[in-house]
Amino acid sequence: MILSANNIHKSYGNLAILKGVDLEVERGEIVSIVGASGAGKSTLLHIIGTLDRPDQGHLIINDVDVNHLNERKLSLFRNQHIGFIFQFHHLLPEFTALENVCIPAFINGVPKKEAEKRGMELLERLGVQARADHKPTAMSGGEQQRVSVARALMNNPSLILADEPSGNLDSENAASLHQLFFELRDSLNQTFIIVTHNEELARISDRTIHMRDGKIF
Ligand SMILES: Nc1ncnc2c1ncn2[C@@H]1O[C@H](COP(=O)(O)OP(=O)(O)OP(=O)(O)O)[C@@H](O)[C@H]1O
Ligand SMILES: [Mg+2]
Repeated sequence: MILSANNIHKSYGNLAILKGVDLEVERGEIVSIVGASGAGKSTLLHIIGTLDRPDQGHLIINDVDVNHLNERKLSLFRNQHIGFIFQFHHLLPEFTALENVCIPAFINGVPKKEAEKRGMELLERLGVQARADHKPTAMSGGEQQRVSVARALMNNPSLILADEPSGNLDSENAASLHQLFFELRDSLNQTFIIVTHNEELARISDRTIHMRDGKIF
């Protein structure tokens, strides 16, 4: 089990957003989370990603009880174990594709040469090595998203979390990004939890989780 979330509750003020969510995910699984706008999907993903803490409940990732880590250990853990892919790529505009991909490794203290070697390998695996020196504005949406997948993979995380990763892509680029997730699962046994409104992605994932009003059903 790569992830075990148990009885997760989260409120903002007196508004209950997550009302006792249980979720277990096996290594190598591709799980999609679907549900109406406002159901709490992104809130849940933030908590699983340790970007936010639950008010109540247990969260175990890769056998570590993350609730018990202090902020410094938590950010180290997050950088090493969790990769993020967002709807809008969130690449840093001042940096090239290769530099963006290397940032998680730099934060982790990996020497520049080593990080760049792995960064180039990842860009090549994702078919965007020719864009290594391009800044984000000089890449297409599909290319930007592939670079952000490379960045998510940089530290070889246990778990990749994606929030509407293809929400900003045309159907062809979306299908090719989804294909990439399955290739990465097959070759690296990478685990994905993907919030999506894309019905095709939900259909082809190993498991689809439906959220409504702060609960999974
Ligand atoms: N930081 C916050 N402070 C207050 N309320 C919040 C905060 N973050 C989210 N919410 C509220 O929590 C509810 C769930 O939000 P969330 O972003 O998890 O929904 P979602 O399922 O991801 O929706 P969408 O499909 O539109 O992205 C919403 O009603 C939202 O307004
Ligand atoms: Mg959302």
